[in-house]
Amino acid sequence: MRVLGIESSCDETSAAVVEDGNRILSNIVASQVLTHEKYGGVVPELASREHLRKIALVVEEACRKAQTTLTDVDAVAVTEGPGLIGSLLVGLVYGKAVALALGKPLVGVNHLEGHVHSVWLENKIALRAGTTTAEAGFPNVTLVVSGGHTSLFHVETRNEATVPIWTYHRLGQTRDDAAGEAFDKVAKLLALGYPGGPVIDKLARSGDPHSTKLGPIRMKGNPFDFSFSGLKTAVLYRVRGSELAGEAARRREWRKSAGAVAAEDLRAQCSPATLDLVASFQEAVVTDLVERTLGAAQALNVNSIFVTGGVACNSLLRSRLKEAAEAAGKQAFFPSPALSTDNAAMIAAAGYFKLRAGEQAGFGLTAHASFPLGLAAPASAAYVQTTKNPPGPPSG
Ligand code: KG4
Ligand code: ZN
Repeated sequence: MRVLGIESSCDETSAAVVEDGNRILSNIVASQVLTHEKYGGVVPELASREHLRKIALVVEEACRKAQTTLTDVDAVAVTEGPGLIGSLLVGLVYGKAVALALGKPLVGVNHLEGHVHSVWLENKIALRAGTTTAEAGFPNVTLVVSGGHTSLFHVETRNEATVPIWTYHRLGQTRDDAAGEAFDKVAKLLALGYPGGPVIDKLARSGDPHSTKLGPIRMKGNPFDFSFSGLKTAVLYRVRGSELAGEAARRREWRKSAGAVAAEDLRAQCSPATLDLVASFQEAVVTDLVERTLGAAQALNVNSIFVTGGVACNSLLRSRLKEAAEAAGKQAFFPSPALSTDNAAMIAAAGYFKLRAGEQAGFGLTAHASFPLGLAAPASAAYVQTTKNPPGPPSG
């Protein structure tokens, strides 16, 4: 079954054709980075307009690359939320129109569920006939970490012999900024460019991560929640009124005339103190992500950890989590960078399994800015306890 996937929840317009939920025939992503760069973050109204300009071209290109036509795809899967409402609507309405005009089944997909599917979509752990659930990395703890989300899920699958069905339990999420958002805001403060994550990832290699103590991040309550706004504010206090602020102002001016900037040129514009600060910031974010994620995997006694979303591209996060997982006898899985960031292949893959399980949306399908995935595990400590020790048969 060939599914056309459409994703437009934030600032990437993407369309993909995926066969049987695991063979990517095409995955076209039109990034809007150049549009939002000068604002240091995504401007919702500009994002919707860009999606409108690109959606038809991107879908056409996805079909061309997959050597198929819209008439030959078997179904359409669209992101229905969460995301920017104007952006979501563009992809959703386009997908609906294609499905209606050509008489194809339509299915709505939660963007976060798409991210989970991106982890095993492309590689040897893909769920194919004969692959056991454990080989495919289930049950697991999944960290979705991007510019819009930082959430931990406990993911289980059942019925895998016929049509696998996934269950998602929400263990925790950020109480304020997403991790990627914090990277972007720190990069904006220091005039390092947008998106901030990839730039800080590269610059941090030249700094001392232990020069400034910014962590650990302490919070009361659920140990699987996150909070990054305090870290961002700590960086702000170190910059404000210091020599680093003057340096950032000079860099901002330099960037205006420099055009597209190579990482080495940017590094040459940064003092050792700036490089040390970004390295310390990244160290604090990564340490927190690794500790909470591994903590959840240990508490739930699962052997697999999935990490996905734009921040999953971070080189320090990848190496640290892999090391920490191995040391604990577990395995960490990351998608390739192209599938970590927003893309439509993951939406088509998630949509395929929904369709096979008999799910189909009506044409009343609509977009949701806020769209929680799965079942809340509100008192996470209690959830962990019952999952580890499921209630036994009544005695006596
Ligand atoms: O998943 P994504 O494409 O879009 C959503 O936000 O949903 O993720 C984009 C985010 C941005 O905040 C960007 O700064 C961050 O992912 N990012 C990174 C890296 N590459 C992208 N953060 C840290 N290190 C990276 N290498
Ligand atoms: Zn995303």
